Amino acid sequence: MSSDCCSPLENETSSCCSPSEAQTQQNDHVSHDDHRQSVRDAYARVANAENADSCCGPEASCCGVSDDESINTLISSRLGYSEEEMAKAPSGADMGLGCGNPQAIASLKPGEVVVDLGAGGGFDCFLSAHEVGETGRVIGIDMTPDMLSKARNNAVKGNFKNVEFRLGEIEYLPVADETVDVIISNCVINLSPNKEQVFIDAFRVLKPGGRLAISDVVATIELPEEMRNDEMLIAGCMGNASLIEDLEAMIKAAGFKNVAINPKGESKEFIRDWAPDHNVTDYVVSATIEAVKPGGEPDGCCGSCC
Ligand SMILES: C[S@@+](CC[C@H](N)C(=O)[O-])C[C@H]1O[C@@H](n2cnc3c(N)ncnc32)[C@H](O)[C@@H]1O
Repeated sequence: MSSDCCSPLENETSSCCSPSEAQTQQNDHVSHDDHRQSVRDAYARVANAENADSCCGPEASCCGVSDDESINTLISSRLGYSEEEMAKAPSGADMGLGCGNPQAIASLKPGEVVVDLGAGGGFDCFLSAHEVGETGRVIGIDMTPDMLSKARNNAVKGNFKNVEFRLGEIEYLPVADETVDVIISNCVINLSPNKEQVFIDAFRVLKPGGRLAISDVVATIELPEEMRNDEMLIAGCMGNASLIEDLEAMIKAAGFKNVAINPKGESKEFIRDWAPDHNVTDYVVSATIEAVKPGGEPDGCCGSCC
């Protein structure tokens, strides 16, 4: 900007002196990066945690309590995973970081390509890998390098050939356009500083007819400012949760149809333990989020009859 433009002689309200759209966008990018860095630091601590004391969250939160496998198994059975399912993942993959079971709503089929947003130690990726089989493929995305290393080690441990992990942000996926059948995610999108962009990019990478099968924490009423500014509650999957109606609007605006967000009242039982000193369950709950990208097979097609 030239110094003349913003000289005191200029009308202060002239558009050349107000921040340009490009400048505002730059500022947003910087603040989004700061937000992601703070979340990344928290999950790097979880990935490297030797014990519960080094966890990022307030208490038994979605950002982890323990590297004790039996505790994590207990947490996952509360989230809706069966013992049979849990046995399919290599030891160490289940870090007790989820808030639901996206497999339960994903209806995965052999041969499908699945992307897991915020894969963590890879637990849901390994379960999905069993469902899509050798002809399918699972790609786990995570922005925390320490988490990614953990997931890759787990893949080697479990000898998984159809799973890969890529470093990246869920807002800007390292995945080509229209190559994915199903996007799953477990307790991650609430952490994003730019959820609109998450759904826009999910739409980009899905094939026509592709679907979202997500478990996440959502807000039932507006969170008080002190909760929204609490870094522990943000990293703990509560403080940055969006209102159900806002999420629905974002998903529709990205182009999806058949949007369904179903809060799971029973999840308050475990969410309460994430931050016992705050009345978090007055504001947030875990929900399933489903939607479909238009296109693909004509509606109502039943295979051979079409
Ligand atoms: C609560 S943990 C959930 C991990 C996994 N989905 C599970 O259920 O075990 C959140 C994970 O998402 C990752 N994450 C958070 N925000 C992200 C973003 N904007 N882009 C990519 N990864 C992100 C973190 O690094 C962390 O591994």
